Amino acid sequence: MNETIKIMRYRRSIRRFLPEQIKDEELQAIIESGLYAPSAHNDQPWHFTVLRDKAMIDKLNIDSKEAAKDFHDEFVRNMANNEKLHTLFGAPLVIIVSGKDDAMMPRDDCAAATENMLIAAESMGIGACWIGFVRCLFENHKEKVMEDYKIPEGHTPYYVVSFGYKKSVPQREIERKPGRVTYL
Ligand SMILES: Cc1cc2nc3c(=O)[nH]c(=O)nc-3n(C[C@H](O)[C@H](O)[C@H](O)COP(=O)(O)O)c2cc1C
Repeated sequence: MNETIKIMRYRRSIRRFLPEQIKDEELQAIIESGLYAPSAHNDQPWHFTVLRDKAMIDKLNIDSKEAAKDFHDEFVRNMANNEKLHTLFGAPLVIIVSGKDDAMMPRDDCAAATENMLIAAESMGIGACWIGFVRCLFENHKEKVMEDYKIPEGHTPYYVVSFGYKKSVPQREIERKPGRVTYL
């Protein structure tokens, strides 16, 4: 296994972070990895909004929970109503990934950029967690999100990733589900 494959294989979602901020050069390397993702039609339609201010990160947590309080799925509703849960896990750095609306496949492109950033973070020993929980907020309160988090006009926010130095690492590997490959 080469180093890149090892990093992908052993990466885990990190949900416990140390409070200190990651280094600026590490942040730049993460962003650059996102910028170099593949994109349909080479649109490169992503926009990254970097939150390092604790108050802004806490606001995103609270806004997301508020938006998910009446969600139809019980698991999500329980997360929203769990006062002790910080849905961004108190990470010191959060990136919102938004896509340009006039691109061919902006959501897919943003997912590729997001995954690139997760892998880049892991390669530097930095923890990360992809946060889909924000979806209720992003879909049902888009105008407010655009304004509050300064998302550029003509974009849609899709994903959020929490980043930070790891406070703890879960069990190394999760078993893979069988039957996910067909060879013809
Ligand atoms: C689209 C997407 C949305 C996710 N949303 C959340 C989330 O809101 N909260 C969370 O703690 N983890 C979230 N995760 C992380 C998954 O729970 C995690 O990837 C999965 O359990 C496998 O664990 P691993 O990443 O450690 O391999 C999300 C992952 C993806 C790809």
